[in-house]
Amino acid sequence: MDEHQQQVKENIRILGERKDLAQMSLEWMLAVGSAGKYSYNFSWMGRPIIQYPQDMVMMQELVWQVQPDLIIETGIAHGGSLILSASLLALLDYKDAVEQGNVLDPKSSRRKVIGVDIDIRSHNRTAIEAHAMAHKIEMFQGSSIDPDIVSKVRAAAAGYNRVLVCLDSNHTHDHVLAELEAYAPLVSSGSYCVVYDTIIEDMPEELVSDRSWCRGNSPKSAVWKFMEHNQDFVVDSDIDNKLQITVAPNGFLRRT
Ligand SMILES: C[S@@+](CC[C@H](N)C(=O)[O-])C[C@H]1O[C@@H](n2cnc3c(N)ncnc32)[C@H](O)[C@@H]1O
Repeated sequence: MDEHQQQVKENIRILGERKDLAQMSLEWMLAVGSAGKYSYNFSWMGRPIIQYPQDMVMMQELVWQVQPDLIIETGIAHGGSLILSASLLALLDYKDAVEQGNVLDPKSSRRKVIGVDIDIRSHNRTAIEAHAMAHKIEMFQGSSIDPDIVSKVRAAAAGYNRVLVCLDSNHTHDHVLAELEAYAPLVSSGSYCVVYDTIIEDMPEELVSDRSWCRGNSPKSAVWKFMEHNQDFVVDSDIDNKLQITVAPNGFLRRT
C-alpha cells in the first residue's frame, strides 16, 4: 500500500470513530432532502439520476475495484443509474483497449448492464434506447421479485464472471429481502451488492409517513435479516465511514 492509500485508510478510521459526524450528516441529508428533493437534482450523461453525488463516485470506485463484466440493477426510473453503470463499463473497455494497444470498438465488448423496473415509462425507454450507451444496456419490465423476471435475469447473466448488483426499486423490507435472496447469489466473490436507501431506517417516521416503507420496514431492516442467515457477505463499513454522506449506510455488502 502506498503512502497515499495509507493516509486514506487512516482518514477513514478516524472518520469511523467520530460517531457525531453520522448524526450531523443525517441531519444535513434530511434538511436538503425536505427543502429541495436533493437526490432528484442530478443527471448522468443527460439522463436524470436519483442518487447522491457521493454514491455516484462510490460506484465509480467499486467498478474500478471489481472490474465487473456485468452490473444488475433493479429500479430504472429515468435511466440515470443505468447510464452511469454502462458508462463506467465503457471506460473499462477503453482501459482494456489502451492496455492491449487496440483501437476501441465500442460494440465488441460483452460488458453490459441489466436493468429491471416494474414500469419502464415509454419516454424513458425511448431516451435510454437512443442513448450512446444503449448498446451496453438490456432492460426487463416486471417486478424484480417476479419469478419469471428473476429467471430471465439469471439467464441473461449466464456466462458472466464478475457481477455487481445494485438494488434500488421498491424499498419495503419484504421486497428488498426477496431481491437479496434472488440476486445476491449472482454477485461474484470480492464484488458488491449495493442496497440503496437503507437510510430510510434512520429517518424520522413523519418524513416517510406517505410511503409504504418506514423504520423497521426498510432496505436496512432487510439487510439485517438477510445477514442473519448469510455468511457470504459482510457490510463494508469502511465505505460508510469514507462517504459519511450516503443513502446506503450498511448497504454496501461485499461478497467474501
Ligand atoms: C428510486 S427509483 C430508481 C432510481 C434509479 N436507480 C436511479 O438511480 O436513477 C425506483 C424505481 O423502482 C421501480 N419499482 C418499484 N417497484 C418495483 C418492483 N416491484 N420491481 C421493479 N422495479 C420497481 C419504480 O418504477 C421506480 O422507477
